[in-house]
Amino acid sequence: IPLSQEDLKKIAAHKAVDYVKSGMVIGLGTGSTAQHAVARIAELLNQGELTNIIGIPTSKQTLDQAVALGIPLSDLDDHPTVDVAIDGADEVDTELNLIKGRGGSLLREKMVEASAKKFIVIVDESKLVRGLGSSGHALPVEVVPFCAKNTARKLERLFDGCKAEIRVCRQRNGEPFVTDNANYIVNLFFEKGIGNLEAASERILGVEGVIEHGMFLGMATTVVVAGKSGVTFLDK
Ligand code: A5P
Repeated sequence: IPLSQEDLKKIAAHKAVDYVKSGMVIGLGTGSTAQHAVARIAELLNQGELTNIIGIPTSKQTLDQAVALGIPLSDLDDHPTVDVAIDGADEVDTELNLIKGRGGSLLREKMVEASAKKFIVIVDESKLVRGLGSSGHALPVEVVPFCAKNTARKLERLFDGCKAEIRVCRQRNGEPFVTDNANYIVNLFFEKGIGNLEAASERILGVEGVIEHGMFLGMATTVVVAGKSGVTFLDK
């Protein structure tokens, strides 16, 4: 039977959990791939193969999952250093730069993963790209709700061939999507690519009202890629 994309996500997640040892503080990522890692950590805790783990969730969704599975939790205030963080990504380039946040979480992820000694990214092979933002999919930017349309316009003007849209919630009548931090998301679409990523990052963060963007540059330590023909580890 051929492996489904869900199988691949699970395979990558389980490989990443091999980096987790008893006594560690673990950053728990968000999304359909990361949830397999959270479930695996809970399984190993229940089997007694892992002990004394503290999880730092990167979203309310992950917090709920971890609570339901009985994983002991804390936060960066009490545990400022994370030993290993494990999370998915929407895009991974050849330098291991990432786009994250298409599921709506990025700020807490970035805060937790920036505090991690090791940041293990788990993806199926469909997430590998030559250049970030060239797939026609969005780069999410978290912005304060105050005058978010104006912030979106300013972001659009930063780049040639860029379109900005405030993310909406279909379930809520097209109202803006609200993040865990009570902010909005502006989706940026790049017709001509993002160009220099560091420069783009600085320009985006320079717009008043912007809180954070979904480019995770130089942060990943290892990317575990599950493909139809096996698992590959990409290291920094
Ligand atoms: C959450 O918003 C994200 O940053 C996820 O890590 C990313 O979108 C990958 O999610 P999937 O594993 O569901 O593709």
